[in-house]
Amino acid sequence: MSKQFDVVVIGGGPGGYIAAIRAAQLGFQVACIDEWKNDKGGPAPGGTCTNVGCIPSKALLQSSEHFEQAAHHFGDHGITLDNLKMDVAKMVGRKNTVVKQNNDGILYLFKKNKVSFFHGRGSFAKAVEGGYEVNVAGAASETLVAKNVIVATGSNARALPGAAFDEEKILSNDGALRIGAVPARLGVIGSGVIGLEMGSVWRRLGAEVTILEAMPSFLAAADEGVAKEALKAFQKQGLKFEFSAKISKVDASGEGVVISYANAKGEEQTLAVDKLIVSIGRVANTIGLNPEAVGLKLDDRGAIVVDDECKTNLPGVWAVGDVVRGPMLAHKAEEEGVAVAERIAGQHGHVNFATIPWVIYTSPEIAWVGRTEQQLKADGVAYKAGQFPFMANGRARALGDTTGFVKFLADAKTDEILGVHIVGPFASELISEAVVAMEFKASAEDIARICHAHPSLSEATKEAALAVDKRTLNF
Ligand code: FAD
Ligand code: NAI
Repeated sequence: MSKQFDVVVIGGGPGGYIAAIRAAQLGFQVACIDEWKNDKGGPAPGGTCTNVGCIPSKALLQSSEHFEQAAHHFGDHGITLDNLKMDVAKMVGRKNTVVKQNNDGILYLFKKNKVSFFHGRGSFAKAVEGGYEVNVAGAASETLVAKNVIVATGSNARALPGAAFDEEKILSNDGALRIGAVPARLGVIGSGVIGLEMGSVWRRLGAEVTILEAMPSFLAAADEGVAKEALKAFQKQGLKFEFSAKISKVDASGEGVVISYANAKGEEQTLAVDKLIVSIGRVANTIGLNPEAVGLKLDDRGAIVVDDECKTNLPGVWAVGDVVRGPMLAHKAEEEGVAVAERIAGQHGHVNFATIPWVIYTSPEIAWVGRTEQQLKADGVAYKAGQFPFMANGRARALGDTTGFVKFLADAKTDEILGVHIVGPFASELISEAVVAMEFKASAEDIARICHAHPSLSEATKEAALAVDKRTLNF
């Protein structure tokens, strides 16, 4: 017999589980179906983000940063260590514990909010009167019926043609997060977010890391000034980059992996590595969803077609997160999940794409919100720029990390903040002030007039806002 719900959510990543919780808060009977399995075959809700994305990558970034600090920077503080060692198995074990804490946390939240959780694969069966029938194939088979279905089935790593992931030598994000020992030579294809974060982890632990990037420029989505500063810092740390690389072959038949490519000058090159991470973007996932059964429309790249409100071509079927257009970020997925639940309840959920922050958790961290200087130029917007270096910030000096700067871009006439770009310590935390300011349509002067605690890194934000008017106080 089928089970009746008001809302069925397919996918328990940040888009799906948050949508389920919000819908339950609004008084709906809600089911959430997720198929992710832990190593014992049990449920592991949280999706890519919790299992093989945001959370485990940040755990490894933290461990490897501690090692880097102990190995190279503790000496500045008068701390000496003998026989410093890295136990990779323990580091990976700690990461797994952090992941499990998050999986368990989501299961607890489902209980707390009375969301019915089904562990298994959800697929559309058919449209029925007043809604849709969704099958669950897991330990037990179930049929659920609901008027509203929210699809949040996420994304998968894109493979390089002719180089399928074996997760032993050719690694997606999944394999990259569970390498058992530091590889002497690590290759990375793609100098995007995953390439930089994972490349940094293994470089800090002693791997020689070479990143091959197809584009001629570095981090094209970031502000050019920020990208330039970050590249300089990464190269100084020892990450090797090859831009305009055209990969022709990846051969994993021997001991390691040999990558053949043409460099920027068109010269044929080979790179031999022990392991290769391929991080060239991700593709929307609808595997097993059976969208054809109900006529759910996908675009030519496999993403579910939605409008600005996450409505699909079918009444009552919504889609959020990585499986639809827009940036593939956990917080974007969450915002869409909340907005859809509220729309189902007749409220006016809203996601402001103009103020979604981006963060890259390298060292230095990179974070931004709003438009870059190059975008403003291309859009013909008259703007003023203000920049303040962490070198001139007392807290950064005390921390021993003075790399980078905060940069403000404001409208030349109205002074409204159009973009804030940060490269440097704790950029991931500092960016929130800029997001709030932009949501409230603040001017650079508003930030410049707000009292910021001393000594704090946030003073660099205030000073960058002052710099828009050419009146920094400490530089
Ligand atoms: P997902 O998290 O992919 O969740 C989809 C879920 O649906 C999965 O559990 C899947 O098993 C399940 N599923 C799929 N099909 C079915 C089905 N038919 N039936 C049942 N279940 C199904 N973003 C950030 O904002 N910050 C970061 O620091 C960050 N770091 C990242 C690091 C890495 C290495 C990677 C790979 C990604 C990172 N991301 C980060 C991106 C972030 O993980 C995604 O944007 C986010 O997980 C998308 O959420 P989602 O809910 O749309 O999909
Ligand atoms: P990405 O889109 O960030 O970067 C991919 C890079 O690969 C680009 O620079 C691209 O030019 C390059 N590339 C593409 N094809 C190539 C080829 N054939 N040869 C060489 N280079 C090639 O994708 P990535 O790093 O795989 O990450 C996927 C997504 O996951 C990100 O876009 C982001 O949305 C999310 N993510 C977010 C994080 C965060 O918020 N901190 C961390 C990690 C991932």
